[in-house]
Amino acid sequence: MIDITDRVRNKSLHAKIVSAEEAAKFFKPGMTVATSGFTASCYPKAVPVALAERMKKEPFTINLWTGASTGPELDHALAEVKGIKGRLPYQTDNLVRQQVNDGTIDYLDLHLSESAQLSRCGYLGKIDVALVEACAITEEGNIIPTTSLGNTASYVQSADVVIVEINTTQPLELEGMHDVYVPLDPPNRVEIPIRKADDRIGTAYIPCRPDKIMYIVPCDIPDKTRALAPIDENSKKMSAFTLDFLKKEVAAGRMPKNLLPLQSGVGNVANAVIAGFVDSDLEDLSVYTEVIQDGMLDLIDAGKLKFASGTAFSPSPEGLARFYKDIAKYKKYILMRPEEISNSPEVVHRLGVIAMNTALEVDIYGNINSTHVTGTKMMNGIGGSGDFARNAYLTIFYTPSTAKNGDISSIVPMCSHIDHTEHDVDIIITEQGIADLRGKAPKERALEIINNCAHPDYKPLLLDYYNRAVEQTKNTHTPHILEEALSFHERFLKTKSMKKQ
Ligand code: COA
Repeated sequence: MIDITDRVRNKSLHAKIVSAEEAAKFFKPGMTVATSGFTASCYPKAVPVALAERMKKEPFTINLWTGASTGPELDHALAEVKGIKGRLPYQTDNLVRQQVNDGTIDYLDLHLSESAQLSRCGYLGKIDVALVEACAITEEGNIIPTTSLGNTASYVQSADVVIVEINTTQPLELEGMHDVYVPLDPPNRVEIPIRKADDRIGTAYIPCRPDKIMYIVPCDIPDKTRALAPIDENSKKMSAFTLDFLKKEVAAGRMPKNLLPLQSGVGNVANAVIAGFVDSDLEDLSVYTEVIQDGMLDLIDAGKLKFASGTAFSPSPEGLARFYKDIAKYKKYILMRPEEISNSPEVVHRLGVIAMNTALEVDIYGNINSTHVTGTKMMNGIGGSGDFARNAYLTIFYTPSTAKNGDISSIVPMCSHIDHTEHDVDIIITEQGIADLRGKAPKERALEIINNCAHPDYKPLLLDYYNRAVEQTKNTHTPHILEEALSFHERFLKTKSMKKQ
């Protein structure tokens, strides 16, 4: 077993150090296991792998609560042995997605800012075990997290017992990069005193009584972070539209020269948009976001970012290596908070965040579908997009104008599922252009979106639909032809395949 005694600073806890296989024996069918982990960062690895091995011989299921998505040793390993019954609050693993959509897993897709409070208030049941990754345990028994914070502090607080994986691949310099603050629950809650992205309001560790720790397990499996796709032409165009728009906002006096704190969502488009800021003349930027991706390291290196607050450091493998190599430098610029704080509607509203997230589809009135392919199949989940979209100063959604090699228009008459309503959305950006929905009534929004954002292959179809809807409804407030609106994808596919024949 790897020696972790120097990282377990409370010597009385050394007796609790066991192997992953030993700790895995503790889990019982039906238990709720709440883990650390937000993206493929700081999730427990050795114990879930050992638990999955045990489940192969002795099939049973647990409920799995996390911060958000995790890495393969947790979600994928347990899904491979059909070991997950309930799952919340967000996930991105392919096999888990398949099991969510074939009825094997009951999935609660939650606003991330609300998931910790939901876990504390008890109606989802109690947490039997908190299983968390740490880089060290202090003399007092407190837990020093690694590359994310997520819901870990709340889970440790609420769980019956805690199992800690000490991951020796995670550098001890991570200590000091967290700001742990768990709000009181109503009616005792007070304001969250954050006024700037770099304000610290909590502790650098997750409070934990030593007697609550059941086992401590050594682990040397690194975070399996995801590679980013090369930045494509569409993303470059969307980034350029964003910069151009923000410059005009500055010129119009609607935001300061260094903008307002930026939030950028998950994935390639979000990363590409941020990467585009590196070559701009913007300076002195700040970030109040959920995930800190490679693009933010580029901004730090370019001297353009003064601070980034998030709940997870979610880089590509290259970004992680780059971060570890220069951790002393990046530590000055990056802080990780509980997701309840990084995504707090109160703080997002106070700071006046610029929220930039990606949609699956957008309808002509500005409603957004972020989660359900054709209205029924779960893609990932709402994640933090609702926390930011509803409360930001400026809410931008991105989507390439088509999906599936052009077979589907991402601009549709009526979304097949709605996560963010027309009331929350200010700007839509595709590679075709930008639609500014602010101050526009529904019919003005429809023309703005179709004319500026739809792909030329679909613009005539959408305009035809809109014009007929206006005519048939006698120019009503929000014109729709209901039976046609939801069958639009099929019509698109038919049209496209007919074209191909
Ligand atoms: N209809 C059907 N399928 C669509 C589609 C549409 N309109 N738009 C995209 N897709 C498919 C793509 O083809 C792709 O399928 P594949 O995996 O089989 O190739 C898949 O959806 C993902 O699309 P992609 O273009 O790779 O998107 P992405 O990586 O930029 O992710 C979201 C886009 C919406 C899935 C992602 O941003 C998400 O999960 N958002 C919700 C959570 C969120 O916003 N979190 C951030 C808050 S801080």
